[in-house]
Amino acid sequence: MTGEHSPTVIAIDGPAASGKSTAGYMLARELGFLYLDTGSMYRAATLAALIAGIDPDNEAAVSALSRDLDLQIKPASGAADGRQYTVLLDGDDVTWELRSPDVDAHVSVVSSFPRVREEMVRRQREIARMGSVVMVGRDIGTVVIPDAPLKLYITASPEVRARRRWLDRKAQGHEADYAEILADINRRDEFDSRRKHSPLRPAEDAVIIDNTDLDPEEVLTKIRAFLHAGSSEEIKEV
Ligand code: CDP
Repeated sequence: MTGEHSPTVIAIDGPAASGKSTAGYMLARELGFLYLDTGSMYRAATLAALIAGIDPDNEAAVSALSRDLDLQIKPASGAADGRQYTVLLDGDDVTWELRSPDVDAHVSVVSSFPRVREEMVRRQREIARMGSVVMVGRDIGTVVIPDAPLKLYITASPEVRARRRWLDRKAQGHEADYAEILADINRRDEFDSRRKHSPLRPAEDAVIIDNTDLDPEEVLTKIRAFLHAGSSEEIKEV
């Protein structure tokens, strides 16, 4: 579906539970690209701290730990539990633990530490260098791969995002409280947007997709149109 000059690195950013992961995953599958959800890396650093009994607010200890993190992210390869990928921490499958409310509660602080970001961005750029990748996060278009030829910023209203996350949690068989999820989403968005290093914001040349009233297939249809139009720069000129 892509043309001669189609981008080989696609950057997708957006706030919590905005549908960016669903869109990125579907797009990567369609293109035969690698899918990398960078949020899982910050979540893994957070979980590693919790497992090691390190206070997630302890910047020095968490930074040191993230540098030596034995982290592998692999294709889901046949796991029939709805996962998009498998995350191994010290060789253990922690894919679902990364989504726990405990990790949700601490991940924004961990991801605000400059040395944690430096280490994760280094790993992310190594992967981007290989090309044919859809990378999803908060700072991909602004910091990690600012020269990505196509940058998308996917957003939706906080209420719709909270409802989608609530449905996800229920589908996974967990207790879920809509009001708590909405509060967590608002808290993380606020924290991620206000932090000093790599705050959440659209790149100047990002294409913004508000999917409050769009289903995943409609979002993908829009992205396909952008891919055909070429780079973000060219899209702006259309
Ligand atoms: O899935 P959800 O949108 O709730 O979160 P996520 O994408 O897994 O990201 C979890 C947290 O990691 C975010 O709230 C950010 O604090 C942080 N993050 C970041 O700082 N930079 C990224 N590139 C990706 C995630």
